[in-house]
Amino acid sequence: MDYILSPSILSADFANLGADVKEAVKAGAKWVHIDVMDGMFVPNISLGLPVIKSLRKETEALFDVHLMIEEPGRYIDDFAEAGADLITLHAEATKHLHRAIQQVKAKGLKVGVALNPATPLSALDYVLEELDMVLIMTVNPGYGGQSYIAKMDDKIKELRAIINEKGLDIDIEVDGGISAKNVAHVKECGANVFVAGSAVFNGDIASSAKDILEAMEA
Ligand code: DX5
Ligand code: ZN
Repeated sequence: MDYILSPSILSADFANLGADVKEAVKAGAKWVHIDVMDGMFVPNISLGLPVIKSLRKETEALFDVHLMIEEPGRYIDDFAEAGADLITLHAEATKHLHRAIQQVKAKGLKVGVALNPATPLSALDYVLEELDMVLIMTVNPGYGGQSYIAKMDDKIKELRAIINEKGLDIDIEVDGGISAKNVAHVKECGANVFVAGSAVFNGDIASSAKDILEAMEA
């Protein structure tokens, strides 16, 4: 299984975004996590299509686009065109999850489904086999810098058991409150893609990313 650090640019300096991202990638991050928020599905507004399009010129790293927007199916083609490689949709954000998943796949992109902390794994019952990734939110979406919700340990463990039992090849990404301090523990629970925003960008980017990678690979 591949273990991947996906730094969330939500905590980067947007005036210096290209350089910040390149520094994280140079330090060993294979993916770039891009949080899109619409002020409706979540209370916050972050960034959108033009930023992704500009950033696409700066790095070859995989663009891991986390859509926290209502009815994401409306914008799949636009995010694909802007440069997304993987699009993750929230199960709670659309009345037509199966259709939205197919829309992402039709664009030739990898597809993930995200679950808020209170959403049960059963939301995936009839779509799991379609997915490249499941994103387990380990905070309530909307903001960086929140604390990891310990109860999510059980959810990650249960999901990994289901994926193994079915013999599927699906990444489990965790997002929220991940740092060098807890990444080994969350990996032990069964996650293999680790999003970290404040833990990467709120200090020396290269050394923070390296600290997380070291703890992740241990
Ligand atoms: C929260 C976002 C996260 C956020 C994580 O809604 O989905 O990606 O940037 O931030 P940290 O790593 O600081 O908890
Ligand atoms: Zn995110």
